[in-house]
Amino acid sequence: MKTSREHPSMVDGEVIGNVEVSPNHFRLTLRLPGTFSTPSPGQFVMIRDLERREPLLPRPLSVYGFHREGGYAILVLLYRVAGLGTSLFSRLRSKAFLNVLGPLGRGFSVDCDVRRVILVAGGVGVAPLTFLLREGYSQTNASGKTQTTAYVGARTAELLTGLDRLESFCDLRIATNDGSAGHQGLVTDLVRSDLNGCNPEETFIYGCGPAAMIRSLGLLVRKTAIRCEVSIEERMACGIGACLGCAVAITDGKGLSDYQRVCKEGPVFNILDISPVFFSNE
Ligand SMILES: Cc1cc2nc3c(=O)[nH]c(=O)nc-3n(C[C@H](O)[C@H](O)[C@H](O)COP(=O)(O)OP(=O)(O)OC[C@H]3O[C@@H](n4cnc5c(N)ncnc54)[C@H](O)[C@@H]3O)c2cc1C
Ligand code: FES
Repeated sequence: MKTSREHPSMVDGEVIGNVEVSPNHFRLTLRLPGTFSTPSPGQFVMIRDLERREPLLPRPLSVYGFHREGGYAILVLLYRVAGLGTSLFSRLRSKAFLNVLGPLGRGFSVDCDVRRVILVAGGVGVAPLTFLLREGYSQTNASGKTQTTAYVGARTAELLTGLDRLESFCDLRIATNDGSAGHQGLVTDLVRSDLNGCNPEETFIYGCGPAAMIRSLGLLVRKTAIRCEVSIEERMACGIGACLGCAVAITDGKGLSDYQRVCKEGPVFNILDISPVFFSNE
């Protein structure tokens, strides 16, 4: 079952929190008008500070949390400072306003009949996967019907972010490149060792992280019949399917390539549909 899509809208959101949760990683909480549609897990928003001329284009960020409170919609985002736009976001204080367009894109499928859910996150890739877990699988997890394991990787221990919101909902397995926390090596090494014995029909893998991680995950999944959806990133201008700036090569079942817009047909895709061309720009 694909999650439903409600209508996007453009609203002003008031900053009610912008906390540095780990070095250069911030959790931003915005209060939006109650008319803002409820996002599905995997959807994203485009945000921009209208007070500034630069950067001109809004920046896409995945929904990390969402709830309704006192007639408002409360949107939570988790972001890493990557360049000018996110650096400016990191300086925002309470009572500042940001322009928010969303919810956008096509999110993850949720299958409440699966017994094993595997989340594979690199860095801030935990954001959409945490929202997926909370919105899509919290009930089946609580009833014991689903068993969920989250595999989270980062370069170093201090760059592991968002673990607090995950660990109350699932088993957590950590990998760091330098071994400063958990397994030393790639997060996909951990996943590989645990995939043996998974019943493909009862398992669903979800991933979000750097392109290199998605590529490794794809190589693993190809050897199994396990369903796997991943959220991918591409530079975006409009976020609504109009400019074609975010098109990526996607293959159909017969191996033929076509282009699809990450902001409209994605950002979530079946991992087997992502063409190797996507990874060639790493
Ligand atoms: C659907 C989607 C969801 C995303 N969700 C999150 C999220 O939840 N948290 C988060 O921290 N980041 C997320 N990103 C990435 C985020 O949008 C970029 O890091 C941000 O736009 C960078 O803007 P900037 O002005 O700070 O950096 P820039 O100065 O524009 O760029 C700095 C560096 O980041 C790279 N970059 C810029 N935009 C993107 C992009 N869209 N994808 C990949 N690399 C990019 C540039 O190539 C450059 O190397 C998401 C991207 C997409 C497409
Ligand atoms: S960002 Fe314009 S079509 Fe996707």
